[in-house]
Amino acid sequence: MHDCERPLVVRLASLRAAQTTMQKPTVKVFSTLEELSWAAAARFEEFARIHTVKKKGFSVALSGGLTPKLLYQILASQTFAGRIRGERVHLFQVDERCVPPDHPQSNYGMIRETLLSRVPIPHANVHRMAAEQEDREEACRQYAAELARVLKPEEGELPRLNMVLLGMGPDGHTASLFPGSEALDEQVLWVRPNYLEKLKMHRLTLTLPVLNAAAEVAFLIAGADKAQTLRQVLEGAPGQLPAQKVQPVKGNVTWFVDEAAARLLRPETRG
Ligand code: 6PG
Repeated sequence: MHDCERPLVVRLASLRAAQTTMQKPTVKVFSTLEELSWAAAARFEEFARIHTVKKKGFSVALSGGLTPKLLYQILASQTFAGRIRGERVHLFQVDERCVPPDHPQSNYGMIRETLLSRVPIPHANVHRMAAEQEDREEACRQYAAELARVLKPEEGELPRLNMVLLGMGPDGHTASLFPGSEALDEQVLWVRPNYLEKLKMHRLTLTLPVLNAAAEVAFLIAGADKAQTLRQVLEGAPGQLPAQKVQPVKGNVTWFVDEAAARLLRPETRG
């Protein structure tokens, strides 16, 4: 039976059960982006080690933007060389701008330059969002099929990534889920296109159901321009901004934050 056909009372009961298992996010503050990136790399390695010995390997979805660049460079550095079994890693994308992969704005292009070109991950394990395709819906269907093929969720279940790396914009967007955008309400599709009026740009993005099915979510937040929004996300009324809607049902969220972004947080929020 599809979930939407289950009696309302059963659905509400399972929703309540899910809500009670949601964990409070952990907030870790670091003096600089560099320290933050090394800590996130250590966390990445920890999860990679746990999962690469398992049958399905380690599945992780990477974000674009500027903040994670240093993390990707660190993961590709000599320090981490040989410490992660690349052939057991499956790299997905959180979101992609609708441009060709060699375009300066391509998230894949950035990830290729900082990480993929320097580490031995087989091409078949890199799952690129082909967002340059004219038929964006079709590109999303293909990506959802790829998630299903690799992660093999049970019939009617969501794909469960071992880890998702997210960023956040000063407006509270995360992935390509911007405030007020329709994609935020998506309950069925795993991947969907989203047109951003503000940027006059089409993007493809994983949806909240997929982000919230992940086992581990790490937000990487740096810079003073995010301080106000970060306070709102972590201390303000819940459910207002896209980043607040990332609440894995059976998973953890850790915020890796630099001092500049954390400067308005209450001491008790800083953990
Ligand atoms: C993108 C992202 C996006 C990003 C935030 C934060 O394609 O831009 O995946 O969600 O994580 O916009 O970006 P910065 O790290 O550049 O601040």
